Amino acid sequence: MKKMMKKLALAVACVTTVAMFAACGGKEEENVIKFGTNAEFPPFEFVAANGVIGEYDGIDMAIAKNIGDEIGKTAQIENMEFDSLLLALQNGQVDAVIAGMTIDPERAEEVNFSVPYYTAKQVMIVKEDSTIAKATDMADKKIVVIQGYTGESCVKEMGYAYEAFKKGSEAIMELVNGKCDVVVIDSATAQKYVGDNEGLKIVEDAEAFSSEEYGIAVNKKNTELLEQINEILTKMIEEGTINELSAKYSEQ
Ligand code: ARG
Repeated sequence: MKKMMKKLALAVACVTTVAMFAACGGKEEENVIKFGTNAEFPPFEFVAANGVIGEYDGIDMAIAKNIGDEIGKTAQIENMEFDSLLLALQNGQVDAVIAGMTIDPERAEEVNFSVPYYTAKQVMIVKEDSTIAKATDMADKKIVVIQGYTGESCVKEMGYAYEAFKKGSEAIMELVNGKCDVVVIDSATAQKYVGDNEGLKIVEDAEAFSSEEYGIAVNKKNTELLEQINEILTKMIEEGTINELSAKYSEQ
């Protein structure tokens, strides 16, 4: 009888341990680094049949994969709306955000940013026969931006009326279908859209749109991870890996 009780106690203890492991995520979670992104931003992040991380592919996804490899963890992607990313980071739902995200002072109040790893600027995508040649030409035109992107803030600051869409691809469809005159979005993504759709061109205005830098966002409390990411990014920049990745994914 005593023996049986002992066995039972052991079994209960085991079950409890297993349950506890599962509840706290257990060992498995410790070996995972979760990146939040919004996979609607080629060539940085998009859904593909065979991505570098599961169904996710692009420059940022390759960077995330490499960060995971370097720190000995499996990189996982949580795909969500762009607007939800920083909140998810603050809630601890993800460990870092990699989303072609421009380092800006407002965001930097909420989260920490890594060293910059890519320089971009806002551009205007218009129909090939458009008369828009500079930002001020947008004044009386139908402007479309993507909700929460820096392009939206730029147009807002210029004081022009606009409509905001959730996805770049939706915005481009509006333009292709002649329902708007111009889409304001980041340069490399604009190149992709213009390459994939006939009859569009890019118009730049360096005076109206200053350059932007992309960084990886980390929770303010997680300075250790920020340091690790900075070290890895710096190495990737110095060794030319990021340039190679951006060339590879821009050509595709
Ligand atoms: N660079 C712009 C910004 O930070 C757009 C980023 C959009 N990224 C994305 N993964 N959807 O606002």
